Amino acid sequence: MTPETGFVCITHPSPELADRGIDCILAGPERGGMARRLEIRARRSGFDALCRQYNISATNQVVCLQNDQVAAAGLWVPNPGKSAICYLPPSRYLQGREAQTAACLKAAAGEAAAAGMKMIQGIFDPEEKILPGIYQSAGYQLLAVLQFMEHTARWTLPEIQLPDDYDLETYRPDTHELFKQAIGASYEQTLDCPAMSGLRSLDEVIVGHQHAGTFDPALWFVLVHQDRGVGVLILTYHASMNSLDVTYLGIGHAHRGRHLGLFFMTQTRKIMRWTGARASTLAVDERNTPAVGLYRKVGYRPTQRREVYFLPLGVKSR
Ligand SMILES: CC(C)(COP(=O)(O)OP(=O)(O)OC[C@H]1O[C@@H](n2cnc3c(N)ncnc32)[C@H](O)[C@@H]1OP(=O)(O)O)[C@@H](O)C(=O)NCCC(=O)NCCS
Repeated sequence: MTPETGFVCITHPSPELADRGIDCILAGPERGGMARRLEIRARRSGFDALCRQYNISATNQVVCLQNDQVAAAGLWVPNPGKSAICYLPPSRYLQGREAQTAACLKAAAGEAAAAGMKMIQGIFDPEEKILPGIYQSAGYQLLAVLQFMEHTARWTLPEIQLPDDYDLETYRPDTHELFKQAIGASYEQTLDCPAMSGLRSLDEVIVGHQHAGTFDPALWFVLVHQDRGVGVLILTYHASMNSLDVTYLGIGHAHRGRHLGLFFMTQTRKIMRWTGARASTLAVDERNTPAVGLYRKVGYRPTQRREVYFLPLGVKSR
């Protein structure tokens, strides 16, 4: 406990304390009254089921104690792609607990770094007024405002033929290098979350995309030009929602403006038909005007916006 603050943050909590921390993530700081217990009862079993499904460990948590009561908590979830995400209690309970929550975020970043993560992030509704200040005081910075988009209508896009000097390949162990080349080339002068560029190795980025859902190598496409990967389309089919997510689309800088992005959109339409997906979804950095322009042109429409704050951890690797 630090005398200046009057609270202490505990990493690697005991199972009993981790349990109390999860209750805090679901229903805010410990306090008297029936309402909190009812809120926990309503949400806890669903949350526990999610943790089991996604193998989330409650001990990857920072629990803040003040006067022996849980005042704040942060659950950080690592991803094999070396990027962690931190979950906090509902923001309506954070008023007056800003310092405690920021301390949890800071300690979670330290724990994630020690576990080999290259970055940690938090995502929330831009209408949330209290959260940006909390993230900033924990040292996090705004990464992007993400625009989530969906395509549910009929596609009116004409068929676009691939120019003769390009070939299309799917993911296999022997095309792995082509995917790395294409993803690397697409990061050049990118407007897609540029602050993230170079934080993770290209192999780590690929592993991250493979864990965006059920990995299906038949839905990963690379454009090959003169034996080098120059463009990439990574799709993930989510059976539970019957939707096809554009997990990543990128064209090498020298190959942009040749309607290769549009070609990949026709490929997305083809895979939607093949899988029977009812919708296609994606998330794009709002400042990425070329990508937003492409998606709008082919019929994607905005659904919701989210702010992403992040903290790079460790040294740049590329
Ligand atoms: C976004 C990106 C994929 C577009 O690929 P592209 O092959 O250059 O795009 P296309 O040539 O197929 O353009 C198709 C349409 O997109 C829009 N568009 C493309 N570039 C644009 C730009 N710089 N400004 C505005 N609109 C643009 C236009 O509507 C264009 O149609 P038009 O040429 O008939 O006007 C490419 O810029 C890229 O890979 N950028 C870096 C990585 C990235 O941002 N990925 C998106 C992740 S969400």
